[in-house]
Amino acid sequence: MIDPVQDIASILLSPEQIKETVARVAAQINRDYTPADGQPRKRKLIVVAVMKGSVFFYVDLVRAITVPVELDFVKVSSYYAGTSSSGQLKIHLDLKRDDYENIDILLVEDIVDSGRTLKSLTENLRGRGAASVRTVTLLDKPSRREVDFKADYIGKEVPDEFVVGYGLDYDERYRDLPYVGILHPRVYTKSEG
Ligand code: IMP
Ligand code: MG
Repeated sequence: MIDPVQDIASILLSPEQIKETVARVAAQINRDYTPADGQPRKRKLIVVAVMKGSVFFYVDLVRAITVPVELDFVKVSSYYAGTSSSGQLKIHLDLKRDDYENIDILLVEDIVDSGRTLKSLTENLRGRGAASVRTVTLLDKPSRREVDFKADYIGKEVPDEFVVGYGLDYDERYRDLPYVGILHPRVYTKSEG
């Protein structure tokens, strides 16, 4: 019988810690995007899920954001099967809009690794004329950075280990785990038989 729990070496964020992390990050976002004069926001805030890894974080986060938002989705890949980055950004699903004037974009990512995905995506969206493009990531692996990039909001820094759960996958598996855990290396290193 396949038991995914057997493949998890240790838990990095329990469901309770995920809740606290979402609340903390949402509070920072609410503070930054709420106009100081108490007036309604003049620009539209589009919160964009970078599919698919961020979806659990995304639905929890947007419900904790108190300013009006529109939801949208992009699907990009800089990663293929395996645990190392190809470094190539490909847009599979793009935002559904032609006009970026007076638009604030907040990109929601599961984890920043080499930094290539969010660096190229933010540059791409700024190039379309968005008023602002910021990024929020649940997890950050700064020790793996290959390009100069830092997310505006970071849930938790994690060590250089491959992590899964709460949306994050290894080869499309483990996304449904209710916590974030370190994947046991034996899952992705070839056994000697
Ligand atoms: P980057 O472009 O190298 O920053 O890659 C970011 C993407 O790589 C994330 O959106 C994830 O899909 C994937 N990724 C990087 N590290 C991990 C990990 O430890 N577990 C699961 N996915 C990861
Ligand atoms: Mg991803």
